[in-house]
Amino acid sequence: MKKNKRSNYKQVQKNKKKYYTKLDVFLSRMASILKVPTGVALDMFSQRAVTTIRINNLLQNPQHTIDQLKKMGAVLKQVEWLKDTYVVENMDKSDLASTVMYKEGYFYIQNLSSMLPAAIISPTSNEKVLDMCAAPGSKTTQLASILNNKGSIVANDADKHRIEKLKDVLEMFGVKNTTVRYGAGEAIGGREEGHYDKILLDAPCSGEGLIYLKGEKPLRFWNIKKVKPMVNTQRKLIESAFKALKKGGTLIYSTCTLEPDENEGVVTYLLDNHSNADLEEIELINSEKFSSHKKHIKRGIIEWNGTLYSPEVSKTYRILPSGEMMGFFIAKIVKK
Ligand SMILES: C[S@@+](CC[C@H](N)C(=O)[O-])C[C@H]1O[C@@H](n2cnc3c(N)ncnc32)[C@H](O)[C@@H]1O
Repeated sequence: MKKNKRSNYKQVQKNKKKYYTKLDVFLSRMASILKVPTGVALDMFSQRAVTTIRINNLLQNPQHTIDQLKKMGAVLKQVEWLKDTYVVENMDKSDLASTVMYKEGYFYIQNLSSMLPAAIISPTSNEKVLDMCAAPGSKTTQLASILNNKGSIVANDADKHRIEKLKDVLEMFGVKNTTVRYGAGEAIGGREEGHYDKILLDAPCSGEGLIYLKGEKPLRFWNIKKVKPMVNTQRKLIESAFKALKKGGTLIYSTCTLEPDENEGVVTYLLDNHSNADLEEIELINSEKFSSHKKHIKRGIIEWNGTLYSPEVSKTYRILPSGEMMGFFIAKIVKK
């Protein structure tokens, strides 16, 4: 009788499975990647970044736009490390997006971490620039603003609908130095080998940096199974981008995900296959002006979940989701 009871107990325990929710799985994965407790990961993904805008210098003097915004009641705080960029302290994105000034292209609503790639690549008017995955155009418009509509940019994307949106945005913003192209980024390297001085590869990704856990059904698009096919595409895109780069040219690889295989893994893949690919330190992120964001930034990791990445990837940066910026990854590569 005693024996029976014990074996029943064992059977019941065996059948008792522990069920994890999708949220549990997401948080434990993020906690492990970011090396923080799950409670901290929950906090990070429960914050919405402040509203930030980039004033368009292509349609009118930025000061005029700032004066108009202030007259409208906007409380603006200048972002120290980026020209013509402001935190709007008393309005959210939807308030701003409904204004006539926004609809006419006088400013762009854009998260601060998404402004990093163009600011870092910082092209000059004698350089050929490629934005390989450009739609809907937040970074292309920023590149055009930096160039003051001079020089030449090719803005490419493989999605027909998004290309239409890109064209609209460029027109609304008064961009005149950009040629829009529809096609697979994978094909560009073979067609235009060694052609570009500066290339931005803002790659398609699993988008974890955008997840806001207080939003409606926040994990509906999140699925670990998406990572592998993304990595395949990202590897092909970075190969093509590197091929299209001139000797001495700069390639920025960025994503809005936190997955190591899509970030450090893709960069390691490039370094392993090209001895003339060099990772560089990112001056802007290391600068004093950027230091107020320090607690939300981590260097790239060289190992995760049993996979080793190149030690060089410690020159890359992962922006942690916070009340300041959305989650992001960025690497600066030069061709020797
Ligand atoms: C992260 S979004 C780019 C956002 C854009 N850089 C911006 O700042 O507005 C990635 C883009 O890659 C495009 N894309 C996906 N696969 C591609 C491919 N094989 N070649 C070129 N573009 C691709 C998608 O259509 C999407 O617009």
